[in-house]
Amino acid sequence: MDNRAPLPLSRRTFLIVGVVTATAMVLPPFISAKACAANAAQPIKSAVSLSVNGEQRTLDLDTRTTLLDALREHLQLTGTKKGCDHGQCGACTVIVDGRRINACLTLAVMHDGAKVTTIEGLGTPEKLHPMQAAFIKHDGYQCGYCTPGQICSAVAVLEEIRAGIPSHASASLTDSPRLIASELQERMSGNICRCGAYSNIIEAITEVAEANV
Ligand code: FES
Ligand code: FES
Repeated sequence: MDNRAPLPLSRRTFLIVGVVTATAMVLPPFISAKACAANAAQPIKSAVSLSVNGEQRTLDLDTRTTLLDALREHLQLTGTKKGCDHGQCGACTVIVDGRRINACLTLAVMHDGAKVTTIEGLGTPEKLHPMQAAFIKHDGYQCGYCTPGQICSAVAVLEEIRAGIPSHASASLTDSPRLIASELQERMSGNICRCGAYSNIIEAITEVAEANV
C-alpha cells in the first residue's frame, strides 16, 4: 500500500494548469488566431442611405462602422466629436429622426433611411441656431470639445420637454415637465464637460426655453 501523501501543486503549476484548462474550454479547437484574422480582413459591406443635414447621402460601409465614424471619417463632418467612444461622455451626440443618440454607440447600417442632424446642420456662422447663439452669449463652453454634443442634446431636450416627456427628475409622470434647472440638469447629465461649464450651459438652455424659439 502506498501511504505517501499526494505531492502538493506549486502555485505556479496551479496557475499554468488553470489557464490552459480555461483556454481549452473557451476556444473551440477549430478557431485559430489565423482564421480570426482572416475574417477580420474581409469586411462585409453594405450601402447605407442617410439624409444628413437635409442632404441625401449614400455610403458603401463596412457594416461595423459606427454612425460617428460614418459622419466623421466618411462624410468629413468633424463637428461631431469623439470623446470616450464608449457611450460615456456625450461628445458624439447627434439627432436621429428627432431623438438624440450617442453616435459612437450605434452602427450606421442600423439607420438606413434615417434623418440625421449634426451640429453643422443646426446653424451656420452667419445664421446661428438660437441654442448656438445662447451658448456664446452665456459662455457655455471653454475648450469647446463637448459643445457640439451639448448643443445637439440641448435642442433635443427642449423638444422632449415641449412634448411632455417626463424625466427621472419630473415630479409627475402625467403633468407637463417644468422648465427648472433640476429638470435640465437631469436631462443633460449624459453630456460631460471636463471644463465644468455646466451652470452657464443651463443658463443658455433656460434662455432659449423661455424665449420659446
Ligand atoms: Fe460617444 Fe463619448 S464619444 S459618448
Ligand atoms: Fe471643454 Fe466642455 S467646454 S469639455
